[in-house]
Amino acid sequence: MPKHIFRLVSLILGLLVVAIIAKPFLTVDSFYRFGHYRANSVTEIAAQEPVLQTARYCEGCHSARHAQWSAGSHKSVTCEICHGAAQGHPQNGKLPIPKDAVKLCTQCHEAMPGRPRTQPQIQVAQHSSGQQCTVCHNPHSPKIAAALVKVAGDAAAGKQRAAACASCHGTDGISPNDTWPNLAGQNAAYLARILAAYKSGDQKDVAMTPLAQALGDAEIQNLAAYYAGLGCKSAPGKSAAGDAAAGKALAKNCAACHGETGGGSNPAWPKLAAQKPGYLVNALKAFKAGLRKDPMMAGVSRGLSDTDIANLAAYYAAQSCQSTK
Ligand code: HEC
Ligand code: HEC
Ligand code: HEC
Ligand code: HEC
Ligand code: HEC
Ligand code: HEC
Repeated sequence: MPKHIFRLVSLILGLLVVAIIAKPFLTVDSFYRFGHYRANSVTEIAAQEPVLQTARYCEGCHSARHAQWSAGSHKSVTCEICHGAAQGHPQNGKLPIPKDAVKLCTQCHEAMPGRPRTQPQIQVAQHSSGQQCTVCHNPHSPKIAAALVKVAGDAAAGKQRAAACASCHGTDGISPNDTWPNLAGQNAAYLARILAAYKSGDQKDVAMTPLAQALGDAEIQNLAAYYAGLGCKSAPGKSAAGDAAAGKALAKNCAACHGETGGGSNPAWPKLAAQKPGYLVNALKAFKAGLRKDPMMAGVSRGLSDTDIANLAAYYAAQSCQSTK
């Protein structure tokens, strides 16, 4: 045998011996016993805590959130999809709260060609005009519930009862005062709900509270039917202090619920078109300060400055009350 071949074979044999001796030190016993499958890994994996804990884990400590979530339409979207894996929480710190809701929510809801329609989809640019989705939607219960009060009142009876209201809201539902609201042509379901809210104390006003407390349920229905049926004289009041053009740009953020020009998009929510500007300003300031409570309006009004509010009021006050948009 030539010398160099002999050296080569001895080198290979030497390395083989070293490898066989080293193996038990470098790998676990079960290595390669069943081919590539490593039997010990099963017990190792089982000993690890699961990274995802499921929603039931959260229930014990965040019971209010959990109840809200499980009653709403997002119960197929588990907590950890939005908040990340809960392994080690709360011992190792808080879970993150998603900062950019648009990024999070559009992952599932942005309309795209070919995306299955099993989850509702929106045209993002038109739907929310760049606002965070959480301004209007509660992520734990995202459906915007419009509690629609049925109105089947008697407008003629309502007209008689409305004599008591005329001093402030006008004989024809058009108020004589800049800070008292017009009622003519307002949505009936909204009128019935807001009168019931004054009556129950959910909504408070020095003038309205005692008056509404004196109304029976049937009278509320009759008054709502009466005022909703009045034609609003579309005579925009004296021009308001704000800048209506600037208000129009801001009003894009309100269109989903109040319609493009304040004509209303949902009968459960108030129309704003041709409303008294002073009243609009007061109402928006009350929402912003938390004096008037509504979860949707609280989110929307939080970021408005006094100038924004004046501009919005000027815009809506100048719109035609006959608009249905
Ligand atoms: C053993 C009780 C416990 C469990 C179980 C638990 N949490 Fe928490 N969580 C806490 C505590 C305590 C805090 C800190 C609260 C604080 O400091 O305001 C917290 C904070 C959070 C926060 C941040 C709140 C904030 O205001 O910054 C989020 C989000 C959160 N948890 C989500 C979850 C989710 C999702 C689950 C289920 C996968 C879960 N938690 C399970 C106790 C728990
Ligand atoms: C669709 C995504 C989503 C799901 C599912 C979800 N969350 Fe949240 N969660 C959010 C967002 C977004 C916020 C921030 C809310 C905001 O900015 O108003 C938040 C806020 C929170 C907070 C902070 C508390 C607060 O009020 O500020 C807690 C705690 C929390 N979530 C717990 C849970 C638990 C528990 C579950 C499951 C039962 C859950 N979340 C499911 C998106 C989600
Ligand atoms: C992981 C995917 C996913 C994410 C992320 C998600 N959603 Fe959803 N969402 C769904 C599914 C699925 C449904 C439909 C549930 C059903 O109908 O049973 C739904 C339903 C809705 C609905 C309709 C509710 C109804 O009943 O009409 C709204 C509104 C909504 N989501 C808003 C949001 C918002 C806002 C966010 C961000 C905070 C968000 N979603 C994040 C999957 C998601
Ligand atoms: C200005 C308020 C507002 C903002 C901001 C907003 N939405 Fe909505 N969204 C609404 C209203 C109001 C409805 C209910 C419309 C209806 O009942 O027809 C709705 C409905 C939905 C629906 C249900 C659509 C359907 O076909 O059932 C989804 C999904 C949704 N929004 C997702 C989002 C997402 C994602 C974002 C953030 C990119 C977002 N929304 C931001 C007001 C808003
Ligand atoms: C003393 C003056 C006064 C009288 C009388 C009066 N109101 Fe009012 N009304 C007001 C004021 C002021 C407001 C605005 C309160 C606020 O800002 O919350 C209001 C608000 C309302 C609203 C809410 C309008 C909206 O757009 O949200 C309704 C509905 C209403 N009144 C109906 C009536 C009815 C029905 C009567 C007769 C039974 C009546 N009011 C009598 C002063 C009056
Ligand atoms: C997600 C739906 C939603 C959006 C978006 C929204 N609103 Fe509202 N708004 C409501 C609801 C619901 C009410 C009735 C609240 C109540 O019952 O007290 C309301 C009431 C009001 C009122 C009181 C009207 C009255 O007759 O008393 C004013 C003013 C108002 N909104 C202005 C705005 C403006 C301005 C914007 C945009 C910056 C806006 N809203 C965006 C849902 C919305």
